[in-house]
Amino acid sequence: MKPGYHDIYTRYRDNITRGVLKPGDKVPAIRVLAEELKVARKTVETAYAILTGEGYLVSQGARGTRVNPDLLLPGHDAPAEQATGTLPESLISQRERSGFLRPGIPALDSFPYKKWLLLAGQATRSMRQEEMLNPPVLGWYPLRQAIARYLNISRGLSCTAEQVLITSGYSGSLRLILDTLASRSDKVVFEDPGYFMGQQLLKRIVPRLHTVPVDRSGMDTGYLLRHHHDARFAIVTPSHQSPLAVTLSLPRKQQLLDWASQNEAWIIEDDYDGEFHYTRKVLPSLKSLDQHDRVIFMGTFSKTIMPSLRMGYVVMPASTVAAFTDCADIVTSGQPVLTQKILTTFLNEGHFFRHLKKMRALYQIRRDWMIAALQEVYGDLFFTEQNDGGMHIVAFLSKGSGDREVARCWQQHQLQVNALSEWYRGSGKRYGLVMGYNNVRTYQEALNLLEGPKQQTLELLG
Ligand SMILES: Cc1ncc(COP(=O)(O)O)c(C=O)c1O
Repeated sequence: MKPGYHDIYTRYRDNITRGVLKPGDKVPAIRVLAEELKVARKTVETAYAILTGEGYLVSQGARGTRVNPDLLLPGHDAPAEQATGTLPESLISQRERSGFLRPGIPALDSFPYKKWLLLAGQATRSMRQEEMLNPPVLGWYPLRQAIARYLNISRGLSCTAEQVLITSGYSGSLRLILDTLASRSDKVVFEDPGYFMGQQLLKRIVPRLHTVPVDRSGMDTGYLLRHHHDARFAIVTPSHQSPLAVTLSLPRKQQLLDWASQNEAWIIEDDYDGEFHYTRKVLPSLKSLDQHDRVIFMGTFSKTIMPSLRMGYVVMPASTVAAFTDCADIVTSGQPVLTQKILTTFLNEGHFFRHLKKMRALYQIRRDWMIAALQEVYGDLFFTEQNDGGMHIVAFLSKGSGDREVARCWQQHQLQVNALSEWYRGSGKRYGLVMGYNNVRTYQEALNLLEGPKQQTLELLG
């Protein structure tokens, strides 16, 4: 049944009072809404006249009709705040909270935005009609080629563009790998401690999830062989273990590869920040040592470019390309072509390499500042262990196990650090704070940030 003027009036009034429509929001022109609802113009005109008379709408001549910007509704924030579109803190996920020292965020002050915007403009203008159809599910081919070239040169892989598959990042990659290759009875092993978001995701989707402890040489492959020889998947961060930032030793790499080839198991290599080594050359990836094609390599542009890009990739073993293609066709819809085009030019014109080189030098300096500032502000309360790179440090507690309390306290000071113990599932927990340093612009800034929660931290750890 067609809505009458009263129905239209109540729809607007209710949406405005519930906050769905906010002060200042534009409403459709009378003619447009009448066409949309298939009613006479007069019907919409009458509804708008009542809403205007009651102060819900205002007509602003050529600028159209809007929800009254001065409208104050009981139980809602002031109009100016509503118009910014900010969500209440309780509805913002942990990952989205703003703050300092969040692990894994690249230096936002040093990204070549001008260049990126220029490329974005070019890519937008060059969009052809056929590129506005559904994107290819495995990714835009020129980007797959650019990534294959980058991986072959920089990460020591030997893969073709046909093996590269573009995803939306970590969870998109991992889900697609497991959807394609795993059955529900397969045992999957993960590092302990391990990437917190990864654990949360895997707990939801993998019925037989087990963990393998990590020590200073990375995942304990001896433990894997003794306890989980029958696993079908091992998910590892060999370049920089997440979160301990240690590197998987060469003998263990070999042991892991041998295990996978003898048991026809898969190793998922999560190379999330393998580009960032500071004191030596970038390490060859585990995949580059893989003679039997048992390693599925996954990477992301979240650390090298920006997390909001939502671009990651998987290198599919040659024998699995057909299976991935079938599965991707059903479970994904591909990634936005426009973003893939911008990224392709960024890679092909050398901006990516230049940016990485600059960031390696910058991160080394910022990391040193952070470690020195920790020592200066907290003396021996925390210690760090020597490791070569990555995008975060772990400040271990010298004594006690109160890292959760300390992390909560720092979070109240807008320092978005994580408690290390929360990343463990089994025994053998260590305690400390996982913190990023890439956005600390000066040594003084590092000192100031750390001074904030000092008093309370001393009380908690004293
Ligand atoms: C261990 C690990 N893997 C992968 C990622 C990348 O995630 P995404 O590509 O979804 O941004 C991160 C990001 O923090 C990470 O810490």
